[in-house]
Amino acid sequence: MAKSLGKTWDLMPHSAAKHEILRRYLQAWIPILSSTHRRIMYIDGFAGPGEYRGGEPGSPVIALQAAIDHADRITGEMSFLFIEEDEERKANLERCVEKLCIPANFHLDIRSGRCNETVSALLDGLEQDGRALVPTFAFLDPFGFAHTPLDLIARLMRRASCEVLVTFMYDEINRFLNQKQQPANFDALFGTTEWRKGLGVSDRRQYLRDLYRTQLEQRAQIRYVRAFEMFNRRNQTDYFLFFGTNRIEGLKKMKDAMWKVDQTGAFSFSDATDPRQTVLFDRGPDAADVRRQVLAAFAGKEVTIDQLEAFVIAETPYRETHLRSLVLKPMEKAGELRVDPSTRGKGLTYPKGSNIRFA
Ligand SMILES: C[S@@+](CC[C@H](N)C(=O)[O-])C[C@H]1O[C@@H](n2cnc3c(N)ncnc32)[C@H](O)[C@@H]1O
Repeated sequence: MAKSLGKTWDLMPHSAAKHEILRRYLQAWIPILSSTHRRIMYIDGFAGPGEYRGGEPGSPVIALQAAIDHADRITGEMSFLFIEEDEERKANLERCVEKLCIPANFHLDIRSGRCNETVSALLDGLEQDGRALVPTFAFLDPFGFAHTPLDLIARLMRRASCEVLVTFMYDEINRFLNQKQQPANFDALFGTTEWRKGLGVSDRRQYLRDLYRTQLEQRAQIRYVRAFEMFNRRNQTDYFLFFGTNRIEGLKKMKDAMWKVDQTGAFSFSDATDPRQTVLFDRGPDAADVRRQVLAAFAGKEVTIDQLEAFVIAETPYRETHLRSLVLKPMEKAGELRVDPSTRGKGLTYPKGSNIRFA
C-alpha cells in the first residue's frame, strides 16, 4: 500500500482532522513544556514526505510550524527527530523543511530508517550512558500495523514526561486479522496473544480497540489513555488515534484540541471514551449526559472544584468548561448545589479551591 501511493498522496479529510488535533495540541504542549524544561523533543516516527499532493503540510512541517509560532517562548532548545524509511519521501521532506525559517535553538535530525530500530537505538544509548530522555512527544503514524510494537511505546513511556499519539490502523488490522503470516506482527502490536479472541467476537472493532487501550494502560503503564475514532467516507472506522500521557494537564489539552476540531465534510468523528458512550463532536456536548455522569459520582457529596475537574477530564469525554457551563452554573441557579461562599468571590464562578456540595 505504502509504495503504491508514490512519493506523495492526497490528503483525506480525516487525516486533515488528525493534523488539526496534532497542531492544536503541540501549540499548547510546546510553550508549557519549554517553560519548565531546558530542552524538549518531538519525534515523528513515520514522518512521510512533509507535504501532500495538493501542497498541504505533513505532520513534521506542522510540528515545526507550531514550534516556530512559539519560538519567542522557547528559551531553551527544541529537538526534532523525523524518521522516514522511504528515501524519496525523506528527500522530499528535507526539501519542505529547507523552505522554513528554523531558529538557531531548534535541532533537526532527519533520519533514513525504521522507527522502531531508530528510537530503540536512541533509548539504548541513553540507557547505556545513564541519561534521561528530555520531555518528548512522539507521533507514531504508520500506514499499517507491523511497525509499532507495544514494547516500543512502553519503553518510551517509562521515561519521564513522554507522551504518545499513535495511529491504530483498525481497518487494516481487521482485514489481515486471520491471515496466516501475521500473528507475530499482531503479538507485537498488542503486546499479547489475546487479540486472537477478536476473531470470534461479534463486535471485533470494540474488542480490538478495548484490548489495545488496556494494553497501553496496563502493559505500557500509561495513566491516561484516550482513543478517538476516525471514520472514512463510507462511514466505516478507518483508524483510532490513541493518545497516552501520564499528566492530567496533557489529557486536558488534548481534549481541548479534540473538541475544537470542526466537523465538516464527508467524515464523522467521535470520542470513544467508553464503549457505552460516544459523543459526536458535530452535535456538541450533551448537557444532560455531562450532568448525569457528574451526579452519578458526586450526588449528595461535598467536593472541591479540583476534584470535579479531574473527574470530568479523566473519566468522561467532556471538558472542564462543559462542567462549569453545563453542570455547575445551571444547577446552582436551580438551587441543586451550594458553593461554600468563603471559598470563592462574587458571581457564579468556580475558582480553584471552591467547595461544592451537591444536593
Ligand atoms: C501514514 S504516512 C505518515 C504521514 C505523516 N505522519 C503525516 O501525517 O504527514 C507513513 C510514512 O511512514 C513511512 N514508513 C513506513 N514504514 C516505516 C518505518 N518502519 N519506519 C519509518 N517510516 C516508515 C512511509 O514511507 C510513509 O511515508
